[in-house]
Amino acid sequence: MMLKMQALLLMALGLLLAGPAAHAHVSARTPPPQVISFFWENCHEKKDLVLLKGMTLEPDPIEYPGNVTISAELHVPVPLSSPQKVELIIEKKVANFWIKVPCMSHVRCIFEDICQLLDFIIPPGQPCPEPLHTYGLPCHCPLKAGTYSMPKTQFTLPNTDLPGLITSGAYRIWIFLSSRGKRLGCFRIFAALKGE
Ligand SMILES: *[C@@H]1O[C@H](CO)[C@@H](O)[C@H](O)[C@H]1NC(C)=O
Repeated sequence: MMLKMQALLLMALGLLLAGPAAHAHVSARTPPPQVISFFWENCHEKKDLVLLKGMTLEPDPIEYPGNVTISAELHVPVPLSSPQKVELIIEKKVANFWIKVPCMSHVRCIFEDICQLLDFIIPPGQPCPEPLHTYGLPCHCPLKAGTYSMPKTQFTLPNTDLPGLITSGAYRIWIFLSSRGKRLGCFRIFAALKGE
């Protein structure tokens, strides 16, 4: 409901700003609805330090509920230590707009310090959870400089009941990494989801 309201408001605003003539022009040129397939990119390859070097996601579209197979490679040229901030923005394509999807009932998910969070979830001294353990990947800070790769690994999407939040469609996810106000990385991931 919330999403529909936002979409309507945005469309109304768009029409107001564009005016009737501009609108006619736009609709004549509007391409058919695009099918979004999986795609990833670094937001600013030249500016950022931490870079996504590769990523795969299968199936495409992701089927929900179901399993996904993910692989990823991250280039970390500097050690990462606490505080390590992670921000997440999830957007869904509605008509021709990207509408923000609430993340844990906020506009964006902000983890002020992922290092503290990791120490809280995984008590230090314990082996890292799978699949990290198998691939020798770390689960605590500081993260040494290096290239971290996770080969194709299957995950089962939790069959949680999030009414109206997880629905079929095209999504764009922004992930921002920073520390003490210094920007370290930004990734954009496009993926399509097909619900039951
Ligand atoms: C997901 O994977 C598990 C384990 O490989 C399998 O048992 C299950 O049937 C799969 N689920 C779907 C929806 O394919």
